[in-house]
Amino acid sequence: MTYAVNPAVNRIEAPPIMEAQSWVRPGLRNRKLLNLCQAVPSWSCAEALDDEVARLAHEPGIGLYTDIFGIPALRAAIAAHFSADYQGAVAAENVCVTAGCNQAFAASLMAIASAGDNVIIPAPYFFNHTMWLGMLGLETRLIPAVAAGRTHPDPGDAAPLIDARTRAIVLCSPNNPTGAIYPPEVIQGFFELARRHGIALVIDETYKDFRAGPAPAHRLFATPGWDEAFIHLYSFSKVYAMTGYRVGAITASPRILAEIEKIMDCLAICTSHISQRAALFALSSLDDWKRGKLAMMQHRLESLRKAFARPGLRYELVSSGALFAYVKHPFTDETARQVAMRLAGEHDLLCLPGSMFGPGQEQYLRIAFANAEATDMETLAGRLMESQAQRVAVGM
Ligand SMILES: Cc1ncc(COP(=O)(O)O)c(C=O)c1O
Repeated sequence: MTYAVNPAVNRIEAPPIMEAQSWVRPGLRNRKLLNLCQAVPSWSCAEALDDEVARLAHEPGIGLYTDIFGIPALRAAIAAHFSADYQGAVAAENVCVTAGCNQAFAASLMAIASAGDNVIIPAPYFFNHTMWLGMLGLETRLIPAVAAGRTHPDPGDAAPLIDARTRAIVLCSPNNPTGAIYPPEVIQGFFELARRHGIALVIDETYKDFRAGPAPAHRLFATPGWDEAFIHLYSFSKVYAMTGYRVGAITASPRILAEIEKIMDCLAICTSHISQRAALFALSSLDDWKRGKLAMMQHRLESLRKAFARPGLRYELVSSGALFAYVKHPFTDETARQVAMRLAGEHDLLCLPGSMFGPGQEQYLRIAFANAEATDMETLAGRLMESQAQRVAVGM
């Protein structure tokens, strides 16, 4: 006889990326797999960052804990960066450094909701969000993220779902999986709704740097009393290619941070000290380097959009931006998983089925293209064409 496991955790599906990787059958056609299943940058960390970390490794005390909320210099630098980037008012006391944005999400939701409460989230959603909501015993209430004529959710869909046990609305912009960048007025609408009902608006802005231009992503940080309703989550993982350093941030009211401090103390005590220093270096010294990577991703995005305009391609680009493309596949007799498995097993293209991002997504695939060069986009379109031709050949 052995011990039981937590049914709230047991009910959750296994991590999706691992499953998708098992679909690959290497060596079939002797060509390189186009691996577009995970939002991992194809570029390496800045060399200057590598040098700085090598130098920091010798610094006395670098192997020790920091404050639970993070080193004061990094909290202040994040606050200054957000104040400038969003043209708003963020103080160091609003910032808690975390081990990545997933931990930021986990700690924030644990601080505001308890089992039996509910959270509103647009579908398709980032699966780690709903996995965590499920583990906390929270009910997930879905609104559409994409509808006819729009690629963003509507606060009007969320309003009727709010009841006495609703604790938060969770958004992600730029969005994973769709790549959609929500207009500032839509985000403002969700904020007003949340504030009116005394619930939190949690926005995962892991991809904020990948928006189309320098205009602020929204004006919430410039809205007096923003911290009554808004919780902002960020990640250093993507634009700085620091996925393994594990640094993110929660920006919120000191009132909720006092609760989050207890959770962080139990989860990790603090984010790795040397990783925090690396993030501080990135924020203070890598602006030009970062601009170069953003321009490169913009070029890849344009190449991807051009590739999807190829005549005869029956996969439709529904939405794209940041590191993601959300694509409608043309097959009506296969599930999204079957299509994705066929692409992986027979066409050397690994992407994720829409069904991994929520109900009602059988017609879609997510392509995470940060791992592809601009020149790979034609190869991508070619392999999609190949998969259409194969189905015609078998009498689809
Ligand atoms: C929307 C979103 N949030 C959070 C994360 C995880 O970020 P981190 O590496 O900072 O934990 C990802 C990673 O893919 C993501 O897409």
